[in-house]
Amino acid sequence: MSYTIAIAGKGGTGKTTIATLLVRLIKENKLGSILAIDADPNSNLAEGLGIEIKETISSILDDISLHPEIIPKDMSKDRFIEYQIHTAISEGDGFDLLTMGRPEGPGCYCYVNNVLRNIMGKLTNDYDYIVIDNEAGLEHLSRRTLRACDALVVISDATPAGLRAAKRINLLVEELKIKAKKRLLLLNRFAGKIEKEKIKDLGLDYIGSIPEDNLIQKISLDGGSLMDLDNTAVGLQSLDKLGGKIWS
Ligand SMILES: Nc1ncnc2c1ncn2[C@@H]1O[C@H](COP(=O)(O)OP(=O)(O)O)[C@@H](O)[C@H]1O
Ligand SMILES: [Mg+2]
Repeated sequence: MSYTIAIAGKGGTGKTTIATLLVRLIKENKLGSILAIDADPNSNLAEGLGIEIKETISSILDDISLHPEIIPKDMSKDRFIEYQIHTAISEGDGFDLLTMGRPEGPGCYCYVNNVLRNIMGKLTNDYDYIVIDNEAGLEHLSRRTLRACDALVVISDATPAGLRAAKRINLLVEELKIKAKKRLLLLNRFAGKIEKEKIKDLGLDYIGSIPEDNLIQKISLDGGSLMDLDNTAVGLQSLDKLGGKIWS
């Protein structure tokens, strides 16, 4: 069984950044094989990971719905989709990536989500670690793509509004009965000590913080890959220290 890490949080809090750095650290610490899943329709995990994506789950489903004749006569549609999705897994250096993509037209998300959920169920035996970069906000969780994970990492800034959003995410996880063995709070772009009072009733275990890191910011501005982030970057080093609380 894979060890599944799901990253959640408000838009712009640093989900994609932290998902990318987690993939890098799991790889560099030689913890096992990794599948990164970009479950955000505004996907940009590939960019951070520095790989090209050929296809997404959405592009494959769009193709099949436009050209149903490509389904072989002796294969069911579901079986064909499953087979095709495997071709959407891009191989990086030391990890693989599956991207959900953006479905064309309204009302198609449910279908893409169903396919993603099924495929995730099937892939859990193929990798030691799965790292899922989720969509901002709560919509994705409400679509129940994620049913269970070993560690849910909620990323937040240290502002009262940010922390309230983190709390709402946790409440939704409870309401939807998503089974998360660990529910963790990671503060991003924050250095120093957070007052216990501010985080005590979020329902999340606080594991620490990642400071503002100019090197991360620079790579982001240049459109580069966080796989090239210097080893001495404070953000990377802080996450490495906290990593054990996430991945084990
Ligand atoms: N610790 C950090 N230090 C500096 N910049 C950061 C840090 N974390 C994230 N950023 C920047 O903040 C922006 C939003 O981060 P991103 O990971 O895309 O957020 P999300 O995926 O939650 O929308 C990006 O430009 C990213 O480079
Ligand atoms: Mg993102």
